[in-house]
Amino acid sequence: MKIQPSVRYSHTLLSQFLQNGDTAIDATVGKGNDTEFLSQLVGEKGKVYGFDVQEEAIKYTNQRLDDKNLSKNVTLFNTGHENIDQLVDGSINAAIFNLGYLPGSNKDIITKPDTTLTAIKACLNKLEGNGIVVLVLYYGHAGGPLEKNAVIEYAKSLDQKEFSVMQYQFINQVNCPPILLAIQKNSN
Ligand SMILES: C[S@@+](CC[C@H](N)C(=O)[O-])C[C@H]1O[C@@H](n2cnc3c(N)ncnc32)[C@H](O)[C@@H]1O
Repeated sequence: MKIQPSVRYSHTLLSQFLQNGDTAIDATVGKGNDTEFLSQLVGEKGKVYGFDVQEEAIKYTNQRLDDKNLSKNVTLFNTGHENIDQLVDGSINAAIFNLGYLPGSNKDIITKPDTTLTAIKACLNKLEGNGIVVLVLYYGHAGGPLEKNAVIEYAKSLDQKEFSVMQYQFINQVNCPPILLAIQKNSN
């Protein structure tokens, strides 16, 4: 068995923490890989909310979910994840962020530190005890290091009584191997 790369490990973590009937957020829908995975994990009694600023990402993912009969429990918003607080009611059990740009799409449309932090904070406020926010940080593009540093600094500053924060990365690979952060809300 091989050590899982960050993207793969993000799914392993989500599958360990999410259950049938849970609520989850995909904060960066893109081509819908995570949205589809979340929809399957939470099942028909669960709920998935997805966000992306690119209309083509939302259209593509809606079609993808329809084709697989997985759209019933998913609501996609063609708007920034900085609006999570206004658009998602109630608590959540997990959220996933894949930061950076969408491969094969417009590389100028990237996630940005301010809006990313607003969205992370909204997710943490909504998190149930033992719930997790998983972030995969890509930082090989212009603007990437700034966002990576801002997110890691924020995650490091979280009170350990309230949250447990893990960082996971291959440290002997070239070309900025993605970093995974997992933030779990401690249960009372
Ligand atoms: C690395 S890609 C996500 C890949 C995706 N998880 C998948 O399965 O294909 C990052 C995505 O974030 C989106 N994005 C950029 N700024 C955003 C924002 N403020 N709110 C939500 N999505 C944003 C981009 O349009 C892009 O689709």
